Amino acid sequence: MKHRSIRLCFIALTVAITSSFEVIPTASAVTPVAAPIVLTGADRRPAQSLEGEWATIVDPYFSGLYSFHHEEKANGWFLNQKAKPGDPFPTEYDFSKAPKLKVPGDWNTQRESLFFYEGPVWYEHDFTYTPKEHTRLFLHVGAANYRAWFWVNGQKVCEHEGGFTAFNCEVTAAVHAGNNFVVAAVDNTRHEDNVPTLETDWWNYGGLTREVSLIAVPDPFIDQYDLHLSRADDSVIEGWIHVMGGQKDASVEVEIPALHAKASAKVEESGRAAFHFAVQGLERWSPATPKLYKVALRSGEDSLEELMGFRTIEVRGTDILLNEKPIFLRGIAIHAEAPYRTGRAYSDKDAETLLGWAQELGCNYVRLAHYPHAETMLRAADRMGLMVWSENPVYWALQFDNPKVLAKAEQQLDEEIGTSRNHAAIILWSMANETPNTEARTHFIETLANRARALDSSRLITAALLVRAEGHNKVVDDPLGKALDVIGVNEYIGWYEGHPDTADTTEWRIEYQKPLIVSEFGGGAKAGLHGDENERWTEEYEANIYRHQLPMLNKIPQLRGMSPWVLMDFRSPNRPLAGIQDEFNRKGLISEKGEKKAAFYVLQKAYKEQSVGKPH
Ligand code: GCU
Repeated sequence: MKHRSIRLCFIALTVAITSSFEVIPTASAVTPVAAPIVLTGADRRPAQSLEGEWATIVDPYFSGLYSFHHEEKANGWFLNQKAKPGDPFPTEYDFSKAPKLKVPGDWNTQRESLFFYEGPVWYEHDFTYTPKEHTRLFLHVGAANYRAWFWVNGQKVCEHEGGFTAFNCEVTAAVHAGNNFVVAAVDNTRHEDNVPTLETDWWNYGGLTREVSLIAVPDPFIDQYDLHLSRADDSVIEGWIHVMGGQKDASVEVEIPALHAKASAKVEESGRAAFHFAVQGLERWSPATPKLYKVALRSGEDSLEELMGFRTIEVRGTDILLNEKPIFLRGIAIHAEAPYRTGRAYSDKDAETLLGWAQELGCNYVRLAHYPHAETMLRAADRMGLMVWSENPVYWALQFDNPKVLAKAEQQLDEEIGTSRNHAAIILWSMANETPNTEARTHFIETLANRARALDSSRLITAALLVRAEGHNKVVDDPLGKALDVIGVNEYIGWYEGHPDTADTTEWRIEYQKPLIVSEFGGGAKAGLHGDENERWTEEYEANIYRHQLPMLNKIPQLRGMSPWVLMDFRSPNRPLAGIQDEFNRKGLISEKGEKKAAFYVLQKAYKEQSVGKPH
């Protein structure tokens, strides 16, 4: 008897006694949920959009999820509770009375008080739904920076880490007919073991920064696919289609009506159906002819229609071959900063404006830095004929000796490639940017490079390396170069070192017989600030850097491309110089207000005249 009463009062204790006798039921253990899945071509599926105004609560102490002893709460704000008269406890939040934020959109540029905010923000949104028989329902999130938790009708449906890749949470069991609600907690707090880590040179825009929708699919359904032109025989399309929940030997079909091409295959043990079929009269995708084909994929009750281009990309010696012809990548680097309104770019309009400027510059290629950009950007690049360097946010000094950090980088790489491998525009997967030359780093990125090759053998692997100085000259011999198909190097002669004319006397030694892309060079200028060409921050100084850089780079035998830093000024917390930077990195050729600087015309002239790179 005595023991029983002691045990009873102990149980009472685990319900946690707070200083003010509030009872907080804590979750006995963190609620395990299924990992989100990757969908290729999610934007080609019919979807119920959840975009618009979402109720939001800023929660710097994350008290909506964690108790005062930092245990995950069982009755957290994800229950979207409403206070009822006579409740034996206070409900200290109410989404129906909370201010709104737009989704998609970062919170920093929507509300002055959140401009510098880093921490958790809660989102709540009501929606109605009519369940359909034999279907599975997924909550599709284009991106949530940085860490995010999702609940539907109070039921946890997923967690995700990584601010720039899409993920899809199964909500089939959580939704019901009629009124439903979804609650998300998004936390953009920077941690050392994050990917990227504490230091970046871009604004840490937080929130549900891209599209959010509900995607219903039959069961089984096509979740990922890879269809590309064979390098061995360019009249053959090869690849695979994976059917989630697919029965072995189930039939899968591909049809390209414009080419009168149709092929079918059987699902194997792996869930994949392998394809290898001949096509006649295919027009290959290229910047000059960005031909896209409607491609129908079918399996059982499931079907989707993709819009894809077909081309080959490969390396031969120090040449990059597009459709078996050597090319030079006339490019520019771009951050996903929205033109004019600033904030995280996500829309078709953002993409068309940014890529439109790149085309006006005379580009046939863009480096999308330093993280995977939105599908809207990749669809626009496919349409406009701009080749793409896509990058995993392994940026500067990650914890390269921490296996958990490697797992995070691998997860983000899987999501980047799994989501976007259907874009002909993407020719390069970049594994990293400006990482320190240590053994742990080299091993870390070699592991990623091998993983990327296993995920996608039809594209080239690169990374942006730092350059070593030898006296006045530059040497490219970072050991990581061995793991790459194409070497990327960043240099800032004339800005972080020397003067613009230092380039005239700088020799380069490249220890690799591989194609080389100068993935960054440039300098800052305040649009409209004019003066002597040797006066920093003037448009003349920036233009002067370009005038000296181009002839220097042209002397590098392996040079096969460049993407100067950067198309448009973008926000960065590292740039406080008042009256000049005002929290913008000013190395753009165009200001965030669309003002073209003098250097824009220097590069445009060189690209139009094709005076950079080896004539092919
Ligand atoms: C680096 C880095 C960029 C940064 C740029 C700069 O090279 O890769 O992210 O913005 O230099 O300093 O402007």
